[in-house]
Amino acid sequence: MTVLRSQLATPGRLLLVGAGRMGGALLAGLRLTNIAMDILVVDPQPAAGPERAVARLADVGDFRPDLVVLAVKPGLIEAVAPDLRARLGDETAVISFMAGVRVARLRALLGEGPALIRVMPNLPLAVGMGVCGLFAPADAADSAVDHAIDLLEHCGEVVRLRREDDLDSVTAISGSGPAYVFRFAEALTAAAVNLGLPPDVAERLARQTMIGAGAQMAADRSSLARLCEQVTSPGGTTAQALEILGAPGGLDDLVTRAAKAAAGRAQALGDAA
Ligand SMILES: NC(=O)c1ccc[n+]([C@@H]2O[C@H](COP(=O)([O-])OP(=O)(O)OC[C@H]3O[C@@H](n4cnc5c(N)ncnc54)[C@H](OP(=O)(O)O)[C@@H]3O)[C@@H](O)[C@H]2O)c1
Repeated sequence: MTVLRSQLATPGRLLLVGAGRMGGALLAGLRLTNIAMDILVVDPQPAAGPERAVARLADVGDFRPDLVVLAVKPGLIEAVAPDLRARLGDETAVISFMAGVRVARLRALLGEGPALIRVMPNLPLAVGMGVCGLFAPADAADSAVDHAIDLLEHCGEVVRLRREDDLDSVTAISGSGPAYVFRFAEALTAAAVNLGLPPDVAERLARQTMIGAGAQMAADRSSLARLCEQVTSPGGTTAQALEILGAPGGLDDLVTRAAKAAAGRAQALGDAA
């Protein structure tokens, strides 16, 4: 896996198919940048925004996209594919956010022409702090892959994957990961209440601790172990808590089991698709 930061300018026309939670997050992230793109959104009920929007692919008219982002639910691909296929040229790159819909299936539905790229994004794209796992098959042109990476890097980091199957693991880690972080903040809030703090104070402390620690991780690229050490004096209060979190059956085991369950589910959904 390689972390990339490309220097290319993103090309002109983006067609976003599906502007729900994830498509909407991409739009929100792009709005934070000064990206110069002609964006057309297709969604039955698009949220208000500066981009042009139509309800159906059939209403796209003569808009010829350079990039397409497919952000509908995986179950809708069969319904969307025929209208989309008619609008794709050999120069178009299709970025699919759809969990579990494999390149072979996309190829069968969308034809031989377009470059196909699978991406597992996450919701912090909306605040320009996302991370995307990206898999491009060997037949995808470098220029198409570079364009896709350039677009997504406007909203965070892109990690390129060598194997398509790795997308299931990425789904379990960074795709679902924001929920684990929010859930941990909830657990920290509950622990604070249990110690006797008022709920509003508990939540403020937990939330800002997660935000502050995240910002520190962004600013200081020391190892995670080193960052932990900086908060932990030997024999002190933090050490006492970390001993419990690190015990057998503790945080590491729990997170490993949770991620395995998520990856297994991603794989099963892909097999069933
Ligand atoms: N949410 C996440 O954290 C996450 C993370 C990684 C990947 N993904 C992937 O991203 C994709 C979208 O997930 P989501 O959570 O954003 O789902 P979502 O909130 O349901 O968004 C899908 C959007 O597509 C719209 N839509 C339905 N039919 C359409 C059509 N024929 N043409 C254009 N748009 C249509 C839906 O409109 P209606 O609601 O009116 O039907 C909805 O606004 C999925 O394939 C998922 O696997 C999601």
